[in-house]
Amino acid sequence: MNRRYRKTIIAGNWKMNKTASETKAFADELKTMLPKAKWCDILVCVPFVNIAAAQKAFKDTRVAIGAENVSQFEKGAYTGEVSAAMLKDLGVKYVIIGHSERRQYWNDDDLIVNKKALAAVEAGLYPIICVGESLEQRELGVTKELIDLQVKTALAGIPAEKMRHVVIAYEPLWAIGTGKTATAEQANEVNEEIRTVIRKLYGARVARSVTILYGGSMNEKNAEELLAQPDIDGGLIGGASLVPEKFNAIINAANQE
Ligand code: 13P
Repeated sequence: MNRRYRKTIIAGNWKMNKTASETKAFADELKTMLPKAKWCDILVCVPFVNIAAAQKAFKDTRVAIGAENVSQFEKGAYTGEVSAAMLKDLGVKYVIIGHSERRQYWNDDDLIVNKKALAAVEAGLYPIICVGESLEQRELGVTKELIDLQVKTALAGIPAEKMRHVVIAYEPLWAIGTGKTATAEQANEVNEEIRTVIRKLYGARVARSVTILYGGSMNEKNAEELLAQPDIDGGLIGGASLVPEKFNAIINAANQE
């Protein structure tokens, strides 16, 4: 973390978990333990249908509610899709884009991720753009090249002045839901690379202000070590964000002065 230049964000990604009533129960429990200090932003990204319930349950707290996906299209005949304007109108600020599960199961490729990021930014949403390599790609030694391509493509057409709204999340596929975390050094190395790409595209001032998260089996035990790295500005947390005590412990790890 480097709070001098950029925000620290602890974000939960609930994926396809919890009903509206379970969302309320989680909020009621988390609210009893949330720390008072204000050293990080807290965000919970929930399924579309639970956004309203989550907003109600976390009303008057520091916990913001985000979405997990958005359509690349503005409006029209796209059955089942949800537009950036709809999310904005609901009061949503952040939206996850290009999560590896979207890339894998719904073919959200780099070009679609770029269109979604542009749609989000144009509507005034803050995209959390996910990038990451598979185990095979890491073993082939192409992680850097792949990350460069993913980041460059995702950001194409996003003007410098909108970059303060953009968050990048490095999520190595081999660490997601596997219990296998990247080491703090491995994660920081890629986050540093992401910042280098942003520096080349937008200059040093923009690069140092962008929040770059790590995600992939982050939990209450490894959060402190990961967050101590200079280029890891927070976490995008799956499994551990579903359990109030665990999520709160990660928030506490980020909340150190
Ligand atoms: P886990 O924390 O469950 O590994 O999931 C990470 C993730 O995909 C967050 O978006």
